[in-house]
Amino acid sequence: MSEAEQTYDLAHLGGSAVKWRDSAALRAVYGDILRGMQAACGPGPTLEIGSGIGVAREVCPDWVLSDVVATPHVSRAVSAYEIPAEAWGNIVAFDVLHHLREPLRFFASAADALRPGGRIVLTEPAGTPGGCLFYRLFHPEPCLPAEIIPPYSFAADEDGLFANMGMAHALFGRERIRFARILQDFGLRVVTVRYRDLLAYPATGGFSRPALLPAPVLRGMLTLESALPQAMLRLLALRMLVVLERAPTKSA
Ligand SMILES: C[S@@+](CC[C@H](N)C(=O)[O-])C[C@H]1O[C@@H](n2cnc3c(N)ncnc32)[C@H](O)[C@@H]1O
Repeated sequence: MSEAEQTYDLAHLGGSAVKWRDSAALRAVYGDILRGMQAACGPGPTLEIGSGIGVAREVCPDWVLSDVVATPHVSRAVSAYEIPAEAWGNIVAFDVLHHLREPLRFFASAADALRPGGRIVLTEPAGTPGGCLFYRLFHPEPCLPAEIIPPYSFAADEDGLFANMGMAHALFGRERIRFARILQDFGLRVVTVRYRDLLAYPATGGFSRPALLPAPVLRGMLTLESALPQAMLRLLALRMLVVLERAPTKSA
C-alpha cells in the first residue's frame, strides 16, 4: 500500500460499530441510502470499496465488502487504486471518494475492473452551499469545493490524512464538463447525479451524537425529502448519489 492510500484513520471504526448497533435512527437513514445505491446497480457481482464497519452487510448482503487494509469487518483488502479486474458488474463506495487524494486513479482502476456496461455507484457528502455550511458547523473534516481543481491530485495533512467533503459536488457539478471528458478517456460516462438528504440525516446524530428523532419519524421525513425538487437540493442537500457506466466496449 502506497502512502497516498491510507488517508482515513481506521481507529474511528470501533466506536462507529457500537453506535451503528445501538442507533435505529442511524440504521434507518443509512439503510435508505444503501437501498438507493443498490437500486442504481446493474446486473452482476458488486464490490464495495472502503466498507469501513460494513454497514452494507445487512441491507446489501450480496455485496463483497472490502477496505484498504484487512479488518474484521470486511472479506477482502482492496485499494481503491488497484481494484482486482474480476469483471465486476458494479463497484460501489459510500463516503470514500472524498478521502481519495488521487480520484482519477480510482476511476481508472474501477473502469478497468468493471465488465463492459458495469457501473460505479457512489454516495458522497454534497458540498452544496447548504451542505458545506452544515459540515463546517458540525463535522470535523473540511468542505472546500473550490480546492477541487485540475490535476485533481491532493496533498495529505501533517498526519497523512486527507478529506474534502466538497469533492463530489465539485467534480460532478462545477467541473462536470471537463471531468466528463477525462472519464470518457477511461470509457466511463456519467449516468446519474442526484442530490439527497436534508434534515433526516442530521437528526440521526450521525456516529457521534444522540439521535434527535425516532426511526419511524425519520423514515417519514426521508419520504418527504425524496419528493423535493433537485433544483432546491442542488443548493441545500447534504449528500449526493453519482452513477457512472463503463462503455459496452472499451473503444465505445
Ligand atoms: C468515511 S469512511 C466510510 C466507511 C463506510 N463506507 C461507511 O459509509 O460507513 C471511509 C472509508 O474509506 C476507506 N478508504 C480510504 N482510502 C481508501 C483507499 N485508498 N482504498 C480503499 N479504501 C479507502 C477507509 O479505510 C474507510 O473505511
